[in-house]
Amino acid sequence: MATAEAEAPAQEVGAVQAFTVTLIVRRFDPEKDAEPYWEDFDVEMYSTDRVLDALHKIKWDQDGTLSFRRSCAHGICGSDAMRINGRNRLACKTLIKDLDVTKPIYVEAIKGLPLEKDLIVDMEPFFESYRAVQPFLIASDKPEKERIQTIEDRARFDDTTKCILCAACTSSCPVFWTDGQYFGPAAIVNAHRFIFDSRDEAAQVRLDILNDKEGVWRCRTTFNCSEACPRGIEVTKAIAEVKQAILTGRP
Ligand code: SF4
Ligand code: FES
Repeated sequence: MATAEAEAPAQEVGAVQAFTVTLIVRRFDPEKDAEPYWEDFDVEMYSTDRVLDALHKIKWDQDGTLSFRRSCAHGICGSDAMRINGRNRLACKTLIKDLDVTKPIYVEAIKGLPLEKDLIVDMEPFFESYRAVQPFLIASDKPEKERIQTIEDRARFDDTTKCILCAACTSSCPVFWTDGQYFGPAAIVNAHRFIFDSRDEAAQVRLDILNDKEGVWRCRTTFNCSEACPRGIEVTKAIAEVKQAILTGRP
């Protein structure tokens, strides 16, 4: 005869409750729409889901035309920066449960770059500024072994090595919104990465580039960039260090 314990219904261990959330997405199809418009979608989500999962559910189950970029889905490639409830974030690093799910979640493309379709912008102006600061090691010699660097020297630019070029900082900057010519925080962060590298010989070249009227002096220290950075880089501090290096003439 079976025991009472054996007859009890199987318990679902660690069951995760589903809930419905409304996403209001700013849509734009250049082939059909004169202006962007907002469209809402109800999706069933779990507390472990991220905004990127919600966008996938919409695309796969409701509207295959919804367009957005993503690649790694783990905060590394930098391709899914977007404005979520008015703040720049990576969709793959934003848990739905960390937002107020009693209200709709607003999702739109990052600002200040030309809108191409739905959540996709043209990143070329962003990368043009990035390339302009020569973000690579410049050294005249060809050593037989690796270039030696002290721990202290390495630490000077450690923070700015973490950049994944997501553009969350640059596209949250009010100066960049109003003046597309400004290099923007990300380009300055990536210049900082090499300006303060003791193995590099082109710091002065980069400082001259950033001493331009569209360079570091356009920064108004609003800290939007530091708040937006998904890698926790102290962007405003890096910009201040570049300004200081220009003023003193040495990194
Ligand atoms: S500094 Fe941060 S926010 Fe800006 S592009 Fe790099 S990772 Fe993205
Ligand atoms: S998809 Fe790669 S950072 Fe989010």
